[in-house]
Amino acid sequence: MCGELRASDAGKQVVLMGWVNRRRDHGDLIFLDLRDRSGITQVVVDKSRSGEALEKAEAARPEYVIAAIGEVRAREAGLENPNMPTGDIEVVVSELLLLSDAKTPPFSPAEDAIQNEELRLQYRYVDLRRPEMQKNFVVRHKVTQAIRAQLSGEGFLEIETPVLTRSTPEGARDYLVPSRVHAGHFYALPQSPQIFKQILMVSGFDRYFQVARCFRDEDLRADRQPEFTQIDLEVSFPTQDMIFGITERFVKAAFEAAGETINTPFLRMTYDEAINKYGIDKPDMRLPAMANLTDVLTPELRETLKIEAALPVYGFVIPGVGELSGTARKSLLSEIRTFFGDSGLDALDLVRLRTAEQFVPLAEEIGSHLNATTVAFNGNNFTADDLAVVITPKLGTPEMWNFDRQWIPKRVGALRLELAKKFADKHQLFEKKGTPDDYKFLWVTDFPMYEFNEEKKTWDAAHHPFTAPHEDDIKSGALYNDKGAVRALAYDVVLNGLELGSGSIRIHRKDVQSEIFRSLGMSDEEARERFGFFLEALEYGTPPHGGIALGIDRIVMLLAGANSLREVIAFPKTAKAIDLMVDAPSLPTEMQMRELHLKTTVRS
Ligand code: AMO
Repeated sequence: MCGELRASDAGKQVVLMGWVNRRRDHGDLIFLDLRDRSGITQVVVDKSRSGEALEKAEAARPEYVIAAIGEVRAREAGLENPNMPTGDIEVVVSELLLLSDAKTPPFSPAEDAIQNEELRLQYRYVDLRRPEMQKNFVVRHKVTQAIRAQLSGEGFLEIETPVLTRSTPEGARDYLVPSRVHAGHFYALPQSPQIFKQILMVSGFDRYFQVARCFRDEDLRADRQPEFTQIDLEVSFPTQDMIFGITERFVKAAFEAAGETINTPFLRMTYDEAINKYGIDKPDMRLPAMANLTDVLTPELRETLKIEAALPVYGFVIPGVGELSGTARKSLLSEIRTFFGDSGLDALDLVRLRTAEQFVPLAEEIGSHLNATTVAFNGNNFTADDLAVVITPKLGTPEMWNFDRQWIPKRVGALRLELAKKFADKHQLFEKKGTPDDYKFLWVTDFPMYEFNEEKKTWDAAHHPFTAPHEDDIKSGALYNDKGAVRALAYDVVLNGLELGSGSIRIHRKDVQSEIFRSLGMSDEEARERFGFFLEALEYGTPPHGGIALGIDRIVMLLAGANSLREVIAFPKTAKAIDLMVDAPSLPTEMQMRELHLKTTVRS
């Protein structure tokens, strides 16, 4: 391979095949850098050795595919290239074969990614030749293999489930496939193997996993593709801790396969704690938590800060930002105010707090007034390099926080992330240090069972309707009279602010499952129509079970240091769900439409 030869190979006869990365023409001497996925080797074509080879090298252009037959030679002293693993040698050609010529590509794989991502996606095969992309797929391969090995080693069986199936309720829209044989009927592509993996538990396969392709028609973002891959698993007779342990072990194996060490067990936090301290259900633990200062500000400090006694106050710190000039501070404040818009929240004027000219972080100011019983800003010690932001509602604004106690934390949490993003690059907030602390894993537990759908004014399943509620919350009757308070045995695994995976302990009794469908506003008839087969399966001897699914694309994205899933999926789709290379989706032929018993209302 083009990346393998070293000084110790000098004198060997070799055949290298690959793409011409670069070509330097010195007349009777032509240098070709030959590239394959293992690396690059310099190939020397010398007229004095072979006139025929030189003619071919003259014709060769970047991206031509060639075979170079010749001898490995140590480079002359001083001509080595320490930046290339093969930099100590070159291959002196005795024979050259042009295997394939190439049009000039729209961009060069020998260079960094171009800005125009659409062009990259259209000519994906050229883009994928870039060493950076090839590296991502090596990582992806290693990660998947490591997970397979780890789970197989723990007694899991890999079992495939159908792709042409029925609707699976994961909260997105389905992709439908029309049936030719059954006029007017459609298959749905699975949003996840959820129902099948539960039925596999009923079938006695007590430990199942799958590298599963999932399909969801939803609004796309950098971390969402319409078609993505999960590492999906299910376990019979589980405890939550058992599933956490299994997950931690395969995640550790996956990261180790990619050369990274991580800390296990992962931190744990309930959903409520996550919202109160971070304002979000997937906290980025690389940043300090927010502090609810409402009860800890002394009356004197409220006086100084001009905050009315009853008003809630939140604060947080962005570490390492350092002193801001008066102008920078003002513009930051106005940015914060723009961020909050007319929501009624406001940042205190940081300047107003100090009589001294010098900016001293608000954290210090607040910290010195905190009651002894509270840990100042989550126990962190702050220095003059830390920027503190204190948020309180404006007087006379609608008192949303009285109705929803998560209203303020969620908004302040969003600001915390926004400011972290703003300062991230300049202040290296998220810079990797090459230690396990680069990866702050977290379990978020006790998610709410239901989520209020503002649009439809209904209570939906926050995870999916097969998730078991807390026993206590069934007993208390909250299922019917206080849906917002019902906790689920559902958990997420979060890494550096990104949701990597979700799972839950499932309902394994038909009566409870029917009850949950009903509590979601589904009539018994509708439940039978949609999930009859599943409810019936539950009646034939169902073990208690639970599981989880992690997004492999997301794991690889983080490991590759990429900022979009498109960098780690070979043939991804754009934000508009288009595959630019094959130009999908496309119009069917009239014949196909007829066979599928379809008519479209759209004219194109
Ligand atoms: P959930 O819907 O939370 O759970 O999905 C689990 C994980 O899959 C990944 N993921 C995605 N990745 C890329 N693009 C998408 N559009 C996308 N949607 C989800 C995320 C997410 O955390 N059946 C349940 C799991 C279970 O209960 O066992 C499920 O699918 O990383």
